This record gives sequence, structure tokens and C-alpha cells, in this order.
Amino acid sequence: MPTPNGGVDEHTHALRFKWFRRMLGHVEPGRMIDLGAGHGKFAIDAADRGWKVTAHDARGDRFPVDDRITWEVGDVRDVDLGGYDLIACLGLFYHLTLDDQLSLLDRASGTPLILDTHVANGARSPMDHKLSEVVTVQGYAGVHYREPDQAKHSTASWGNEHSFWPRPQALFRMLEERGYDVLVARPFYLPTRTFFLCLPENS
Ligand SMILES: C[S@@+](CC[C@H](N)C(=O)[O-])C[C@H]1O[C@@H](n2cnc3c(N)ncnc32)[C@H](O)[C@@H]1O
Repeated sequence: MPTPNGGVDEHTHALRFKWFRRMLGHVEPGRMIDLGAGHGKFAIDAADRGWKVTAHDARGDRFPVDDRITWEVGDVRDVDLGGYDLIACLGLFYHLTLDDQLSLLDRASGTPLILDTHVANGARSPMDHKLSEVVTVQGYAGVHYREPDQAKHSTASWGNEHSFWPRPQALFRMLEERGYDVLVARPFYLPTRTFFLCLPENS
């Protein structure tokens, strides 16, 4: 039975906000875009801490009312990431194909990024995600995730039936190739999922 916190328990929910705030604190408040903002709680949390926030999602039905925030409905594949001081990508990356992940990171490159995502680390997902065997695509090892029915799940992918979960080393390489140094929140808050603070080299 899903909980109000996107299927995670209160403890896990609180841990997510703890890591988000810890990582947010590494960057001077300015303009932030929250990609895949969904319920909008992280966008509001950042606004409470002095950030000017744009919240972006393919589905706007869960957006709350908060006049401090610019709420935008759109596909992350098309979003212009220029002009932001920080990009938050929480719970979205693992819903994208590898091509779309690489495109997103190409556009994000040079801007601090807080990434919260699953990785294919061999641990068992407690949420019964449908995962393939390990494959290598474009030189990156990972697994394909078969998305649930998009018509029934407001947290699912948008327009792609399969997404890509990179192996941890593949994710680090994707990020390093785009000029990021990566700090990892440990322990993972779910067996396959944690926060990554990605800072442009020399920043
Ligand atoms: C698991 S929810 C994450 C919500 C929130 N960011 C969090 O971490 O709790 C994933 C969100 O990504 C959005 N999403 C999925 N694919 C997208 C796409 N291609 N473009 C924009 N938003 C997308 C979904 O609509 C959903 O709101």
C-alpha cells in the first residue's frame, strides 16, 4: 500500500530531506531548478531556505500552491538549464533512458547538481522494480528498468517504457566525463538509492 511519501516510510522520507538540506547547504542560495518536482515538497523546502525556485515536471497535477515558486509543466528532455545556480534532479534520473540521461548531464554540466537516484549496485530493490540483467550500452554498464503503467502512476516515466539504471562506476564516469566531482551520501537511504552532490571541478 503506497504511503503519502511516494511509497517510502517516514524515516526514509526524513532521510531524503536531511540529505537534500545538507547538500543544498554546500551552495550559496541563488536560482534553482527542481526537475521532476512532482509533489513540490523539495522545491518548497529550498524556497524556505532562500532559493528562488523553478519547479518543473511533465505532470503538473501534484503541484501545490506556493506563489514563491515558478511551476512549469514540460518534458525534461526539452528544458533549458542555462541561468541556474543549482539543479536538483530527485527521483527523476532513473526514469530516463541512457540517451536522455546523457543529454541531461550535457546540459547540466558546469552547474552544481544534486542527484537522487537508484543505481544498479546488485542490491535488491525493496520496491519490486522490474530490472533486466546487466547490459552495456554505449560503454556504460547498467540495467534496464521496465516502467509501470504511466497512465496509472503519477511518479513514473514520461513517454519511455524502459529506463536505465547505471552501475555505480558507470554513473561516476558519466558525471566525471562532464566535469563533475562527486560526493556520495552514505549509507544509501534505500539499498539501491542515495543522493549525489555533483560539483563542477575547480568550483
Ligand atoms: C518519483 S517522482 C519524484 C518526485 C520528487 N522529485 C521526489 O523526489 O520525491 C518522478 C517525477 O518525475 C516526473 N517525470 C518523469 N519523467 C519525466 C520527464 N521526461 N520530464 C519531466 N518530468 C518527468 C514524474 O512526472 C514524477 O513527478
